[in-house]
Amino acid sequence: MATEETLVLIKPDGVARGLTGAILARIEAKGYSLVDIRLVEPDRDVLERHYAEHEGKPFYEPLLDFMMSGPSVAIRVAGNRVIEGFRSLAGITDPTTAAPGTIRGDLGRDWGLRVQQNLVHGSDSVESAARELDIWF
Ligand code: TYD
Ligand code: MG
Repeated sequence: MATEETLVLIKPDGVARGLTGAILARIEAKGYSLVDIRLVEPDRDVLERHYAEHEGKPFYEPLLDFMMSGPSVAIRVAGNRVIEGFRSLAGITDPTTAAPGTIRGDLGRDWGLRVQQNLVHGSDSVESAARELDIWF
């Protein structure tokens, strides 16, 4: 059994737009378990660690500013192949081209800003999940 845990973040746009419940409902409907959940206002240090792989990229500073613009919901989610499964539920990074049926495809909006405000984060590998869960919990 490939039971795993992943870090899901409902980013500030998702919380501000009142989509927390809708996003949690999709995670639960898929059969994943909410193991831990908290409302967080991360400081820059947390975000630098979380997004270390993107340091220096053009969207990095706008991304950190966006992530400090309001609270996020951090969730420890468990389930079989949940890392891959949540990425599939979320859809690809760009909300304009994310497939309908996904969180980003159905609910994400393109605000024409330098950073994609795409509602959610999901860890992309077993190693990332372990590292990120340690940062947020
Ligand atoms: P990335 O890890 O590539 O995407 P994902 O969240 O799908 O794993 O990028 C992290 C975040 O950085 C992404 O959710 C939104 C932002 N971003 C942009 O704003 N523009 C970009 O071109 C990319 C690649 C990311
Ligand atoms: Mg990523």
